[in-house]
Amino acid sequence: MTHSLKDRWERSLQNNYGTPSIVLHRGSGAEVWDADGMRYLDLLGGIATNLLGHGNSEISSAIAQQASKLSHVSNFYMHEPVIALAEKLQSFTGDHTARTFFCNSGAEANEAALKLSRLTGRTKILATDGAFHGRTMGALSLTGQPSKRDAFKPLIKGIKHVPFGDIGAARKAISKKVAMFIVEPIQGENGVVVPPTGYLSELRALTSESGVLLAFDCVQTGMGRTGQWFGYESSGIVPDIITLAKGLGAGLPLGATIALGLASQLFTPGSHGSTFGGNPIACAAANAQIAIIEREGLLASNRAKGALLKENISQIEGVDLIRGEGLLLGIVLKQPIAKHVQVRLLTQGFLTNATSETVLRIAPAFTISETQLTEFISALTKELRHG
Ligand SMILES: Cc1ncc(COP(=O)(O)O)c(C=O)c1O
Repeated sequence: MTHSLKDRWERSLQNNYGTPSIVLHRGSGAEVWDADGMRYLDLLGGIATNLLGHGNSEISSAIAQQASKLSHVSNFYMHEPVIALAEKLQSFTGDHTARTFFCNSGAEANEAALKLSRLTGRTKILATDGAFHGRTMGALSLTGQPSKRDAFKPLIKGIKHVPFGDIGAARKAISKKVAMFIVEPIQGENGVVVPPTGYLSELRALTSESGVLLAFDCVQTGMGRTGQWFGYESSGIVPDIITLAKGLGAGLPLGATIALGLASQLFTPGSHGSTFGGNPIACAAANAQIAIIEREGLLASNRAKGALLKENISQIEGVDLIRGEGLLLGIVLKQPIAKHVQVRLLTQGFLTNATSETVLRIAPAFTISETQLTEFISALTKELRHG
């Protein structure tokens, strides 16, 4: 790393991320280059965020055009890009009652869900152990990871965590006092943990019986990453709330809280807001990105690439199993060496992420080529054989 940048980082930024080991300088598709000109294959995509990779010319020109026309208007005024995006998201839900609130991040999208649920008149919330819903105080209260929560207690009262994937535990906890049950269709930060088949649909039945809002946090699993627009779709059910961020804004900060049915009527003028939420430039980028995903048939290709990765990686010596859907995958290793493997792969030009000692997560751009995937599979095979 260029020392002066490391020094400047440490002298000017807070230490909440530590000091990253490389400086990225530019990118193209699924490749990035560091400040010294070394090329990396980006298997992480800005943590499941850069859906179309780096430097997409259509997205850049949509951003530039919108910026030169109208960059920010506040929520006192309408603009077309935000309406077009809300209409698209509504069509993806398949439910004409769906209404969207836009914000800037995943944490904010979940904060909005939390506030919205309070308007039911109920105050109790259920979430799951191991879940990650963000770092602001409300979203952190929903997050089921003690290591991220404990230093910031007391958190919001009335939020209980139940084991993820355990429908019996959910049944015991759900009652008519509960406002919302929030869950990730696949737990991303926790290591791409997939719940047992039937869990989400049973949750739907239980929450409906007790009038509890069912919220799916699709911040990581949304916008096509799993091979469907929303990560819950293979369950065949419809939730009351869907939250999005990460890939939604095509690299710009954009989050969304979509409410369906009765939940879509809970916010009224003055209930909630965000200065930048639904900003014209971010919405123009999102609209351009959706158009490309649709035109290029990238949902289907994500499913195919995911299947190819699963088939090849599951056969690698040292891999216990591979889980996830589409291009959100967790490679579970037989030995607790994932952090070491992440560092070794980095030195060989591959960006991956160890979510724990045993799980390596990958979430590449939808546009990554089969040749690039094969390059990664070979590197991982070699690393696990000799590492
Ligand atoms: C499922 C999920 N929800 C919420 C968040 C928080 O998103 P943000 O970092 O944009 O606040 C994340 C981030 O990793 C996430 O994976």
